[in-house]
Amino acid sequence: MEQTLSIIKPDAVAKNVVGKIIDRFESNGLKVAAAKRLQLSRADAEQFYAVHKERPFFKDLVDFMVSGPVVAMVLEGENAVLKNRDLMGATDPKKAAPGTIRADFADSIDANAVHGSDSLENAKIEIAFFFSGREIN
Ligand code: CMP
Repeated sequence: MEQTLSIIKPDAVAKNVVGKIIDRFESNGLKVAAAKRLQLSRADAEQFYAVHKERPFFKDLVDFMVSGPVVAMVLEGENAVLKNRDLMGATDPKKAAPGTIRADFADSIDANAVHGSDSLENAKIEIAFFFSGREIN
C-alpha cells in the first residue's frame, strides 16, 4: 500500500469541483487518508516548490498557488503515486488524455487543477510538509 500527496489547486477550489475531483480518486481505488483546506503563504509555496526555484515559471507558480485556498490530501492505495498521476493526466491540460482530471477541470499549465507527487520518495517529503502523523489515518 502506498501513500501520495494530492493538492487540489486554487483554480479547482474556486470552481467548486473539489468533490468531483475527490470522486475520481475514490472511484479508482484510492482512499482519502487525510485532508485539509488551507491558504498557503508565499513562504509555504516557495518551500513546497523549491525544486523548481530556478525555472522560469517559478514566480508565476508561486503567485498562482497563493491566489486562493487549496485542498491538500493524502491518497492511499495500491500504486497510489502512479495511479494518481494517471488520473491527473499531463501537466499541460492541452496534452492531457480525455477523461483525466486535468483534461476535464484545468484551464492552463499554471491553473492545472491538481498537483500529485512524482515519486514515492517525494511523496513522503510532500506528505510531511502538510500533515503530522496523527492527522493521517
Ligand atoms: P505541478 O505538478 O504542481 O508542479 C509544478 C507546476 O509548475 C506544474 O504542476 C505546473 O502547474 C507549473 N508549470 C508551469 N509551467 C510549467 C512548465 N513549463 N513545466 C512544468 N510545470 C510547469
